[in-house]
Amino acid sequence: MSKTEVASSASGKAALGDEIVGRIDQLSAISETPAHLARIFLSPEHRTAADLILSWMREAGMTARLDAIGNVCGRYEGDRPGLPCLMLGSHYDTVRDAGKWDGPLGLITAISCVADLNRRGRRLPFAVEVVGFADEEGVRFASTLLGSRAVAGTFVESALNSRDHAGISMRDAMVTFGLDPDHIGAAARTRRELHAYVELHIEQGPVLEENNLPVGVVTAIAGATRLAAKLTGMAGHAGTVPMAFRRDALAGAAECICMVEEFCKSDAAGLVGTVGYIDAMPGATNVIPGLASFTLDIRAPSDPHRKMALADIVRRIEAIAKRRNLVLQLDVTHENRTVPCAPWLKAQVADAVAAEGFGVFELPSGAGHDGMAMIDISDVAMLFVRCRGGISHNPAEHVELADADAGARVLLRLVENFRPRETSGAGKA
Ligand code: GLV
Ligand code: MN
Ligand code: MN
Repeated sequence: MSKTEVASSASGKAALGDEIVGRIDQLSAISETPAHLARIFLSPEHRTAADLILSWMREAGMTARLDAIGNVCGRYEGDRPGLPCLMLGSHYDTVRDAGKWDGPLGLITAISCVADLNRRGRRLPFAVEVVGFADEEGVRFASTLLGSRAVAGTFVESALNSRDHAGISMRDAMVTFGLDPDHIGAAARTRRELHAYVELHIEQGPVLEENNLPVGVVTAIAGATRLAAKLTGMAGHAGTVPMAFRRDALAGAAECICMVEEFCKSDAAGLVGTVGYIDAMPGATNVIPGLASFTLDIRAPSDPHRKMALADIVRRIEAIAKRRNLVLQLDVTHENRTVPCAPWLKAQVADAVAAEGFGVFELPSGAGHDGMAMIDISDVAMLFVRCRGGISHNPAEHVELADADAGARVLLRLVENFRPRETSGAGKA
């Protein structure tokens, strides 16, 4: 790959937006299918993308490596080797038929910021590390945040036995990718190695656009619970079994899905519920489905609210299964509490926003992010960048070049002005 030219702005600092948008486009071409962006954990495209990102990290003056779970990790030393780091990052996996900004914007922007420091020969009194997390979306296997959990040392080994829809285990997929599933522990970092974790990400909602602002300071990342439901009934002949005798698993799942939608709609306080995947067996026009599997994703602005709603939804699913004489298996595949952004760090993000001449605006994140795992070893903060129409998890996802540039300026300012908690007046952790 040829080195990207970076134009200088009037301030003498490089304008990073062009480089960032160019790389977003380059990365989006690495996909399972050309027409629908999909870069799924441990797939061949995922590996190709990792290699490209590693090359960008090296070009930016970092040492770069793939860690034990497939995270791409770059390190830019501080004014002496081995200092604790300010960690920046986001993820490089995508959902299916994804937009190209969700994840890569934060990762690529962080690399461009380090490249800018490097071009100017600027070393800081701490290291800067950039991590491209391998699996934030959780599309392939039931669990999510696998990359950041490995870094936080909270990766659950039993996840290695989970299988994708093609029946391939995570363990085997890791071997194919070139990783050793028996050494995931090597990806873990310790609290002592990090001053903080800061992630830039597209907002994925309409609030910044409504407020006519390019960037926003995140207050907290909303918690989420994900479940896998399996309903077992009885397969049978579509022409011969009278309606009253049927144990149709798919019809039961359909009733559950509509119930979830109605239940969440009737909640005025921001509860959201999504069934994003369903599968029916045996899957033939003239066979009554004997088995239906579906996923459930429940989020709410507060943890008690989410937990109460979830308990109610589970009771209702159980009642539907019982009335329809279906056997229900319900497993929690992912659970994350709401993660507040650290006030001392959030204040530094706000200062950087103000210093770049933008209005300081705070907003929560309804979407999940790697900070939800990183909180176990570090204080966390996030900077949101406006996206058009609030559209995300959709190929229409879009960020204006000027907003990508604004996000980069704020992040670079934050990095250059960063003061570790001990020296920021906020006291020691
Ligand atoms: C990640 O994108 C999530 O919030 O599901
Ligand atoms: Mn996403
Ligand atoms: Mn994301």
